[in-house]
Amino acid sequence: MKILGIETSCDETAVSIIEGNPGKTPRQPQCTVLSHLVASQIATHAPWGGVVPSLAKREHLANLPPLVDQALKQTNLRLEDINLIAVTYGPGLEPALWVGFNFAHELAARLQVPCIPVNHMEGHILSVLTQPETQVNFPALALLISGGHTELVLMKEWLHYEIVGQTRDDAVGEAFDKVARLLGLPYPGGPEISKLAAQHTATEKPLYPLPRPMIASKDLNFSFSGLKTAVLYLIKKIEPLDQEKKIAIAHEFQQAAIDVLLKKTLQAITQHQPQTLIIGGGVVANQELVKQFREKINIPLLVPELKLSTDNATMIAIAGYCHYLKRDWQPKTKVEGNLKL
Ligand code: KG4
Ligand code: ZN
Repeated sequence: MKILGIETSCDETAVSIIEGNPGKTPRQPQCTVLSHLVASQIATHAPWGGVVPSLAKREHLANLPPLVDQALKQTNLRLEDINLIAVTYGPGLEPALWVGFNFAHELAARLQVPCIPVNHMEGHILSVLTQPETQVNFPALALLISGGHTELVLMKEWLHYEIVGQTRDDAVGEAFDKVARLLGLPYPGGPEISKLAAQHTATEKPLYPLPRPMIASKDLNFSFSGLKTAVLYLIKKIEPLDQEKKIAIAHEFQQAAIDVLLKKTLQAITQHQPQTLIIGGGVVANQELVKQFREKINIPLLVPELKLSTDNATMIAIAGYCHYLKRDWQPKTKVEGNLKL
């Protein structure tokens, strides 16, 4: 069946069409991407140094209709060929969410097809289902690392989620963005930090050592705001910043974040004995992080394709399809701004 996915939770307007197949036994849905479109609003928000909700709303309104037309053209499909619509209901920026939510429901009513509301973070977990070789064995553990979330989620079976660890303050992506700003890098900061960090040449010891917050704590929670503050104080101490100092700080900050994420994930694996680890969310676009996870994680690891790491509508279509297949969904009448998974 053909599923149209719509995602407008933050600063990307995204539309995708996928073909869903129920898969063989044990039933693991398989999804083929037919069209994957993302209209980025970076240029709109960059002058403000972050996402402006009212501008995001305006851009989503303008972008959605032409994106759906483009997706249909790309796939040689007509609107009537769409069997199902999936749309993000949260978490995210409320004004931005409403645009996609209303658009999807109006379209679904016109086409007389179901409109399945999807949790954005669940989309990040299920984004690995586009790869034919993917095999999720349960219990599975997911590490979600994005701009708004840092969570360890235990899945005993499909569509069953239990948060076993999470950040007490900032999300890791948020820390990347804030540290980037302290270093004078443009928005969005995460990719800029990873580009700078990649220019670092190995030294025996870090030039500017940073803390690894909560790395020794027995629980599975995280904290990233102290790390950001440590960078702030460090910069005050060593100003003026030059390119070399920026590279050293970006590298050490990135490594501190990776060290904590890896340590807590390994701890969760020991504690919960999952058969599969999935990592998802925008920070998974960080190739150094993925490399170190591949080296250190001792159970099968699933990583989404790069284009599915950051926000997109393919993952929303996949999650909607999974709920449809398992007959596990209920209509919603409103979006849910900043709720967690
Ligand atoms: O999942 P996502 O696209 O949006 C949210 O759901 O929040 O994640 C966005 C986050 C941002 O904080 C961004 O800076 C971060 O992902 N990010 C990265 C990289 N690419 C995006 N962080 C570190 N390294 C990257 N290469
Ligand atoms: Zn996201």
